[in-house]
Amino acid sequence: MSELVVHNARVMTCDPDRPGLGMIDRGALAIAGDAIRWIGGDAERPRGAREIDAGGRLVTPGLIDCHTHAIFAGDRAVEFGMRAAGASYLEIARAGGGIAASLGPTRAASDEALIAALGARLDAALAGGTTAIEVKSGYDLTVEGELRLLRCVAAAAARRRQRVVPTLLAHLVPPERAADRDAFVAELCGALIPRAAGEGLASSVDAYCDEGAFTLAETRAIFTAARAAGLAVRAHAGQFRDLGAAELVGELSGLSADHLEQVSDAGIAALARAGTVAVMLPGACVQLRLPVPPVERLRRAGVALAVASDLNPGSSYCETLPIQMWLATTHLGMTVDEAWLGVTRHAARALGLAGAGALTRGARADLIVWACDEPAHIPYRYGAAVQLIDAVFVAGEPADCSILRRDR
Ligand code: NIG
Ligand code: FE
Repeated sequence: MSELVVHNARVMTCDPDRPGLGMIDRGALAIAGDAIRWIGGDAERPRGAREIDAGGRLVTPGLIDCHTHAIFAGDRAVEFGMRAAGASYLEIARAGGGIAASLGPTRAASDEALIAALGARLDAALAGGTTAIEVKSGYDLTVEGELRLLRCVAAAAARRRQRVVPTLLAHLVPPERAADRDAFVAELCGALIPRAAGEGLASSVDAYCDEGAFTLAETRAIFTAARAAGLAVRAHAGQFRDLGAAELVGELSGLSADHLEQVSDAGIAALARAGTVAVMLPGACVQLRLPVPPVERLRRAGVALAVASDLNPGSSYCETLPIQMWLATTHLGMTVDEAWLGVTRHAARALGLAGAGALTRGARADLIVWACDEPAHIPYRYGAAVQLIDAVFVAGEPADCSILRRDR
């Protein structure tokens, strides 16, 4: 007998072996320990020690946020005001703001303060249905400091059931190293990447390959070191200018190419050939007033699309995914099904989490019971999407157990 059976549910499995979103309209699932033991039609369901009647509600996989910069100190609300008044992200960055403005507060923060700030963001993400989340380093940009950030990510992750996937991010050449950037890149490649890999602090390396950040040649050197250290690669590609990062990530069979407001047909073809996921970051796209990424060209080429928050203090201070799903559908032109797969199965693929992001037998029991029955309601009711969450299960345990408290 299973510990818990959820029945009378509209189950969105996102199972790749079923069409579309893999809906089971009158469905049920059984949880034992931290995993799904059984899933199928209501009529065939097994008995459980505890049974929940979902009342026809929608049950989906827990959401996966595959691109965040959730570890930082301070904020850049002043820059938000400057952009609202007409300044551009790159103008502000050239004047000493942008990523460089977050280095001082982050370097000055204690481990405890960083872990607490990250923990609060992870909790906010969970309240919005995020059961697995990527966290990039990148706001220290010294060898010891980046390792410290990744150790803080590990410490915060160890305190919660949510799955946290750490990424080492080569974010920028910090201003104090501008005069010896080759030496800085050599340190990243020769010291930081092998040490992060050796300590098991990151599973992939991301590089910001764009105007004002790393060149394509520097990105290639960083990725070569990452692969030599046994780490996967991914890139911030073409947010402002297409430097050829998508081609490079495809060539190296990277996990994902993210942003992609600017990407050539050759870049798209390289992603398609490699099975690399294109991660859409609609919050940053809207906030920085960038052109919309070429969703139709990516779709036609057969590139899998993910959708993420890009949570960071500059371009997208947002912990939750439902509002990103709204922007993905209304602003980027993704379909509702694409938005859903973008925060579940395709997001899992962008993180190299095999089998995650779908409700299938044996998968970790990360799931959401919603207070509605239609998948479209989550992007459609964008102002209330978080309140639509009735219960979140993380590895089989209820994180928000409102539905369990009700008499059923
Ligand atoms: O993904 N573009 C690079 N990185 C972030 C912005 C980080 C920041 O402004 O602090 C992004 O949008
Ligand atoms: Fe980012």
